[in-house]
Amino acid sequence: MFGFGQLIQILKKSPKKIVFTEGTDPRILEASSRLLASSFLSPILVGSESAILEAAEECGFNIRGAHIVDPEKYERMDEMIEMFCELRKSKGVTPEQARKVLSQANYFGTMLVKMGEADALLGGATYSTADTVRPALQLIKTKPENTIVSSCFILVRPSATGDNEVLAMGDCAINIKPTEDELVEIAMETAECAKIFGIDPKLAFLSYSTLGSGSGEDVDKMRNAAEKTKKRVPELPIEGELQFDAAVSPRVARTKCPESEVAGHANTFIFPDINAGNIGYKIAQRMGNFEAYGPILLGLNAPINDLSRGCNAAEVYSMAIITAALA
Ligand SMILES: CC(C)(COP(=O)(O)OP(=O)(O)OC[C@H]1O[C@@H](n2cnc3c(N)ncnc32)[C@H](O)[C@@H]1OP(=O)(O)O)[C@@H](O)C(=O)NCCC(=O)NCCS
Repeated sequence: MFGFGQLIQILKKSPKKIVFTEGTDPRILEASSRLLASSFLSPILVGSESAILEAAEECGFNIRGAHIVDPEKYERMDEMIEMFCELRKSKGVTPEQARKVLSQANYFGTMLVKMGEADALLGGATYSTADTVRPALQLIKTKPENTIVSSCFILVRPSATGDNEVLAMGDCAINIKPTEDELVEIAMETAECAKIFGIDPKLAFLSYSTLGSGSGEDVDKMRNAAEKTKKRVPELPIEGELQFDAAVSPRVARTKCPESEVAGHANTFIFPDINAGNIGYKIAQRMGNFEAYGPILLGLNAPINDLSRGCNAAEVYSMAIITAALA
């Protein structure tokens, strides 16, 4: 069952370095001071050293020992520019353009990961999702076996007995209108991520229809994606298309699809598009008492994740551990 203890154990065996692109943000500074008090994850703060130290002092956080990297004074900048131009050569980027782009912390931080100076990156405390994710898409790129970068959320409902309820939901944050084949990839990646968090995945491809009760091209898309995913990973329990009530309620499942082994017990949800996914995870978070961890980016060549701009320091700390443990 999901617990930060296991992720921290992974990091203790193999300590990592994580870049925070918003080095002066009080939430980043608070999370960094917590990380610095342990020895499993070292923060690298991007920004001007004097501004970061001043902000930390003002907020009362001890960040002694933090590695601060200022893009304006970075000693490997020429090497970084050369690598950037090589990575973006299909776009005809000039060294002057590269220098300008790399003065922005989101691009600079992503290149620190690319150059091996850091293992992971967490941004988005002030940057939008698009501005955090775009440098990763352009520079880190998808793994060779993937065609897209997607994302999932891990939702945890704490229980007094310690037997937390843990669910996975994808893709609630990146692909706006995934195709049938992209949904297959999202489902397979989300299931793999679910396993890392202790979920034994039972996948529901969600729709407004249950096994043909409704019709329309979006229904066909979810049904076809479910069928294709079953063929790709026959060992996984998969059902689709399913309405959400049929997916999670054994009583409704008995009425709507009694033959299904997934219906009524699904724990890994694949949404038809980002509207449904983003609204869906937020309903679970705001009205269902689930803690939401994510979006966890899937299919990228290195672990880079995005924070919600409404996040607090505890969420930054948790996401840093999740991100680095995935490295
Ligand atoms: C992810 C997102 C930012 C990418 O859009 P974009 O910046 O307009 O991207 P572009 O189409 O300009 O593509 C930029 C690069 O990323 C690549 N790319 C875009 N989407 C990709 C994906 N899902 N997977 C892999 N690569 C992708 C493109 O191929 C392109 O590569 P290139 O520059 O080397 O040719 C966009 O899909 C988006 O805004 N998604 C929703 C984010 C959001 O608001 N979420 C809700 C809040 S959590």
